Amino acid sequence: MTETQTDFRLALSRFASGVCVVTATDPGGRAYGVTISSFCSLSLDPPLVLFCIGKKTSGLEACAGGAAFAVNVLSEQQLHLSDVFARKEHDKFADVAFTIGGNGCRILEGCLATLECSRVETYEGGDHLIVVGRVDQMAYADGGLPLLRFTGRYRRIGGEL
Ligand SMILES: Cc1cc2nc3c(=O)[nH]c(=O)nc-3n(C[C@H](O)[C@H](O)[C@H](O)COP(=O)(O)O)c2cc1C
Repeated sequence: MTETQTDFRLALSRFASGVCVVTATDPGGRAYGVTISSFCSLSLDPPLVLFCIGKKTSGLEACAGGAAFAVNVLSEQQLHLSDVFARKEHDKFADVAFTIGGNGCRILEGCLATLECSRVETYEGGDHLIVVGRVDQMAYADGGLPLLRFTGRYRRIGGEL
C-alpha cells in the first residue's frame, strides 16, 4: 500500500458507520453473505439504498448481478456476525440463525433492521461496484443499539449530545 493509500484509509476511518450483512443468492442458488459498512440510503421516493462491493469479493456475482439482496443492520450484540461474514472461504451460515425473506434472501435473526431489496442498478466505482436497490419490505426493532465502526475498531454508541 502506498503512503497516500494509507492516509486515505486513515482519513476515511474517521467517518463512523454502522455495520450490515448483505445477503444474496448467486445464479446457482447458493446463499451468500458479506459484511458491509458502505451502506446508505439514497432516495425516499422511490425508496432506494446503496452499498459498495469490492470487485475481488467472492460473492460479487450474487450481490451485484442478482435480482435481489437483503441488508441486515447489526446491533451491538452481533459483533461476531460481522467477523463471520467478513471472513473468506468458509460456510458463513453454519452457526447463524436466519429465515428466508419474501425475495428469497436470508434474513439474519436479531438485527436492528432488515431491508429486502430488488436490485435496480449496478455502477462502476474504481475497485468496487456500487449496487443500488429498491426497498420492497422492511422491518425494524423498537429498541437496541447499533454496532459501529470507527478508526478500524468496533464501537458502541456513547450517548446523546
Ligand atoms: C466492518 C467491516 C466493513 C466492511 N465493509 C465492506 C464494504 O463496504 N464493501 C466490501 O466490499 N467489503 C467490506 N468489508 C470486507 C468484506 O466483508 C470481506 O472482504 C469479506 O471477506 C468478503 O468475503 P468473500 O470474498 O468471501 O465474499 C468489510 C469488512 C468489515 C470487517
